[in-house]
Amino acid sequence: MLWRAALAALPFAGYALAQSATQYTDSDTGITFWGITDASHGVTYGYVFPETDTGEFIGEIVAPIATGWAAQSPRGSMLNSILLMAWANGDDVVHSVRFATGYVEPEPMEGPIITVLPSTMVNATHWKWVYRCQNCTTWTGGSIDPDGSGAPAWAFSSEPVDSPADPDTDFSEHTDFGFYGLDFSAAHASQADYDNWAAGGTGGGGSPTTTTTTTTTGPTATATPTPVDYIVVGAGPGGIIAADRLSEAGKDVLLLERGGPSTGETGGTYTAPWAAGSGLTKFDIPGLFETLFNDANSFWWCKDVTTFAGCLVGGGTEVNGALYWYPTDLDFSTANGWPSDWTNHNPYTNKLKQRLPSTDAPSTDGKRYLTQVYDVVGELLKPLGFRSITINDDPNSKDHVYGYSAFDFLDGKRAGPVATYLQTALERENFKLLTYTNALNVVRNGSAITGVRTNDTSIVDGVYTLKPGGRVILSAGTLQTPRLLFRSGIGPSDMITLVQGNAAATPFLPDESDWIDLPVGDNVSDNPSINLVFTHPDVDSYDNWAEVWADPRPEDAEQYLEDQSGVLAAASPRLNFWRAYPGSDGKTRYMQGTARPGAASIDTENDYDINKVFTITCYLSTGITSRGRVGIDAALTARPLVNPWLTDPVDKQVLLTGIKEIVSAIGNVSDLVMITPDNTTTVDDYVNDYDLTAMNSNHWVGSASIGSVVDSHAKVMGTDNLFIVDASILPALPMGNPQGAIMSAAEQAIAKILAL
Ligand SMILES: Cc1cc2nc3c(=O)[nH]c(=O)nc-3n(C[C@H](O)[C@H](O)[C@H](O)COP(=O)(O)OP(=O)(O)OC[C@H]3O[C@@H](n4cnc5c(N)ncnc54)[C@H](O)[C@@H]3O)c2cc1C
Ligand SMILES: *[C@@H]1O[C@H](CO)[C@@H](O)[C@H](O)[C@H]1NC(C)=O
Ligand SMILES: *[C@@H]1O[C@H](CO)[C@@H](O)[C@H](O)[C@H]1NC(C)=O
Ligand SMILES: *[C@@H]1O[C@H](CO)[C@@H](O)[C@H](O)[C@H]1NC(C)=O
Ligand SMILES: *[C@@H]1O[C@H](CO)[C@@H](O)[C@H](O)[C@H]1NC(C)=O
Ligand SMILES: *[C@@H]1O[C@H](CO)[C@@H](O)[C@H](O)[C@H]1NC(C)=O
Ligand SMILES: *[C@@H]1O[C@H](CO)[C@@H](O)[C@H](O)[C@H]1NC(C)=O
Ligand SMILES: *[C@@H]1O[C@H](CO)[C@@H](O)[C@H](O)[C@H]1NC(C)=O
Repeated sequence: MLWRAALAALPFAGYALAQSATQYTDSDTGITFWGITDASHGVTYGYVFPETDTGEFIGEIVAPIATGWAAQSPRGSMLNSILLMAWANGDDVVHSVRFATGYVEPEPMEGPIITVLPSTMVNATHWKWVYRCQNCTTWTGGSIDPDGSGAPAWAFSSEPVDSPADPDTDFSEHTDFGFYGLDFSAAHASQADYDNWAAGGTGGGGSPTTTTTTTTTGPTATATPTPVDYIVVGAGPGGIIAADRLSEAGKDVLLLERGGPSTGETGGTYTAPWAAGSGLTKFDIPGLFETLFNDANSFWWCKDVTTFAGCLVGGGTEVNGALYWYPTDLDFSTANGWPSDWTNHNPYTNKLKQRLPSTDAPSTDGKRYLTQVYDVVGELLKPLGFRSITINDDPNSKDHVYGYSAFDFLDGKRAGPVATYLQTALERENFKLLTYTNALNVVRNGSAITGVRTNDTSIVDGVYTLKPGGRVILSAGTLQTPRLLFRSGIGPSDMITLVQGNAAATPFLPDESDWIDLPVGDNVSDNPSINLVFTHPDVDSYDNWAEVWADPRPEDAEQYLEDQSGVLAAASPRLNFWRAYPGSDGKTRYMQGTARPGAASIDTENDYDINKVFTITCYLSTGITSRGRVGIDAALTARPLVNPWLTDPVDKQVLLTGIKEIVSAIGNVSDLVMITPDNTTTVDDYVNDYDLTAMNSNHWVGSASIGSVVDSHAKVMGTDNLFIVDASILPALPMGNPQGAIMSAAEQAIAKILAL
């Protein structure tokens, strides 16, 4: 049996990092690990590193006794990563270090030196494996950076291994797996504690190298910042467009961004070995998109948000697939939840198109590359009545159409708002961008906002202030704008109560009499998406994009470096399609398809040619009725509280109808084979059994919807001068991947704010 490629690369649509690691103390030993407890199986996975890197760590797995086996991989990929696995055999814990170079059972591995520590045990309810792992941070074909961060994986099986007494036993594929964010650089203990634990000792547990202290020592800052007209929080698409248009109108604007540089133009330098010295970073080179999900040094993800969120200049637009759709009239219709004075979006969409035109042929030589998936999927769609169009030439045509994928790339590079709007803002003296500056809350005097509190220790209380009549605009994204509101006493009382209970945040919370009760976080949506995987003899899977970082096809790398042309001048998608479906509730829903070479996950009993694989992702978009809720937990981590996917059975019915229609036409394309689901699984079973969190498309909108949290001037209700300009205010999902609609909404919001 072939193993799923699931751990190889995360889906194009993105896969929710369901959790971030936190520090916990093992009560049996006093060892302070960094890790998670996986909620579905109750297994705890932890790591702790010595004060300075010596290539080792102490790890542990604590699992309920019924667990077949459990394993952890500090580098979250199945291929070329060490896998530390264990299981109980009577009163013993048996362990094994494994390594896989293909999607087959991982083989026992030589190299890591494991010392089982004395707290390893089996009791009536659990088994626990505590071990020292030396020679474990670098291995042939991979490494982790103990001073960086990463996305470790865990794998779990409810089935026992074949021969529990034998460390080299065979076993079948995991029944579940996941990833989580881990800031390795924080997960260190003092050398004295580490040495004690590594020698089998217990106790201690001071962690002097962690940076979670909230008070700063040293002289109190006395500098006061210059007050401005507008403080904009967050340099994603919403915040950049807001800051550019406001500074263009002559306002003094301060843009605060918690992350650092992204593209070369912003001072970024992180790039693939083959592009070193070119000035082109991981974020510039479109063909490196898929590598964002499979890199040990993932500094670009926000670590205190459990979904993927870009924490760097450009926000989501520096880490997204760059699919870019001009909005449709339906996107801004009253039926989609917009106030009537927002429905004429065209003047604002036109402003956006002027600054940031789309392209469906991003290579600088104007040619299209790797078009086989486009050709094959076109043959599949034509008998179903679809016609080919240039999608952004006719945005309102979204029924039975397909076309080449359109992107916000310019000159063969990732562009978006960073290469356009931000550059004009930076030329103005009345505009200032501060990076690595984390906003904590807005400073309120009742309904009036007077400034923004940040972690900047160089100014008094970290507070940036407003001129009289000044305004604050929050643009921190659908998950993080709500956290800023809760920390400012705005939102449902259950969320503000969590802030009140948090030692770092409670001192800055306004009196309860000043709390503003608004449904912040309610009614969010994200497109549910389901992948279908196929093979066709004409297709080139492009090695599933797995080699583009370390070992690209030489002619493609050379061509890209020469003049930003060729395969690497585009992200992975090659074709998009749309179709409208009536629902049994009388509402019309649209399905979007995105087709690309390669696959994130393959599940089949049959043989197939890995070099011929491609994926069609089917998303439900405009008209979708399912909703969820986002918020925070006691640690102030931003997270979904209620998942938004397919909570309405009619949404599920329509998605299933759409998928079945695609599948019905497979026989029209000779040699086209669907391998996931394969011929042993019905489409109904596949959709019914689909892992809900794998439906995440990272397209969250609606946590501060217009009409319920902000008014038609994008002003937070109950405040005098607090505004929101980001994906949070969209009351419902647009027709396609949302950044085009978000940017058009930002243009319109700023026009309305300036007119106030
Ligand atoms: C993996 C992935 C793939 C995607 N693919 C596509 C795609 O192909 N096409 C598409 O249209 N959309 C795509 N999206 C969605 C799209 O990128 C987002 O919808 C869009 O970026 C949201 O814009 P925003 O301005 O609301 O917030 P964001 O882009 O999230 O920007 C928020 C900014 O605020 C900063 N910030 C947050 N909190 C604070 C704080 N307290 N202080 C200071 N700064 C703060 C963040 O660092 C960030 O820079 C994708 C998203 C992801 C994550
Ligand atoms: C460390 O591990 C590698 C394999 O990853 C192995 O080749 C090497 O010999 C090991 N070194 C020691 C000192 O054991
Ligand atoms: C077994 O050990 C685990 C992990 O330390 C602990 O949580 C659990 O309470 C123990 N069970 C019993 C019955 O002692
Ligand atoms: C403020 O927070 C940002 C983002 O977390 C961080 O990079 C920066 O170092 C912090 N600044 C200070 C002074 O701690
Ligand atoms: C708060 O606002 C009131 C008016 O609403 C004003 O009298 C008072 O001076 C303000 N306080 C501060 C600290 O700005
Ligand atoms: C949530 O959406 C439902 C309908 O989809 C609507 O009735 C309700 O008012 C919305 N609530 C908020 C807080 O927007
Ligand atoms: C071709 O597509 C049509 C339209 O869906 C379908 O009815 C027909 O069964 C397909 N033919 C084959 C051979 O699959
Ligand atoms: C499924 O497809 C494989 C080839 O991909 C074939 O060998 C097998 O017989 C098929 N099984 C069924 C039940 O149709």
